[in-house]
Amino acid sequence: MTSTRRPLISGNWKMHLNHFEAISLLQKLSYALTDADHAAVDVCVHPPFTDLRSVQTVLDIDDIPIALGAQHCHDEDSGAFTGEVSPAMLAKLQVRYVIVGHSERRALFGETDAGVNSKVHAVLRHGMTPILAVGETLEQREAGATTDVVLGQLSAGMGGLKREQAAGLVVAYEPVWAIGTGRVASPGDAQEVCAEIRRQVGESFGSAAAESVRIQYGGSVKPVNAADLMAEPDIDGALVGGASLDADDFARIVQYRLAS
Ligand code: 13P
Repeated sequence: MTSTRRPLISGNWKMHLNHFEAISLLQKLSYALTDADHAAVDVCVHPPFTDLRSVQTVLDIDDIPIALGAQHCHDEDSGAFTGEVSPAMLAKLQVRYVIVGHSERRALFGETDAGVNSKVHAVLRHGMTPILAVGETLEQREAGATTDVVLGQLSAGMGGLKREQAAGLVVAYEPVWAIGTGRVASPGDAQEVCAEIRRQVGESFGSAAAESVRIQYGGSVKPVNAADLMAEPDIDGALVGGASLDADDFARIVQYRLAS
């Protein structure tokens, strides 16, 4: 059966590009993408916080059908949390997707499964869509613990969700060893884990949620490997780091369906 899930290709710009550079990349990207691309695929960019307002303004004024994303947020709506940004502030900027629990946040900034779960709820509370990131380290993969680790992060991150919230979620499977290394997971290996993720969503939230939850693969996605990854039945999109900083490369990933 062909999936009815709309592919979602997301660019995580991480801590790159000031707001001038961000606008320039966005404009190049919008020229490179066609109406046919937008009809086939949802596209989202996740600039750093300092760029969000500028990017949102350009998207709005030029009527560009690219969604705005954020890389992270706090779980409270406001308060004495120096340096943090609230989900309410992001929603006001028309942010649609927020990455929650990226492995860099887990490893470098101490994000826990419990914290990730409360951020998932906070993002949903403000009408935005969480992109819940999960993935194993190389040591965990070599120890045969991939499924346990990924499904553990998944069930903790999705704890307390209603079925319809689970159905609307995006999960990003990003093996840590593939991030920024040029070492992409094979389509078969990525598919295996994504199928496990979908199976568990079905077990916990029912078959309708499993059928509609979108699962992205992330980790060294490039124009040359995007089509093979996207051909897998349980891979519905990509969360792209390095290659999303180049408008032509990112556009070619969005246009994976044209590769032969
Ligand atoms: P790379 O595409 O640079 O490997 O980064 C993946 C990633 O972490 C996206 O969130």
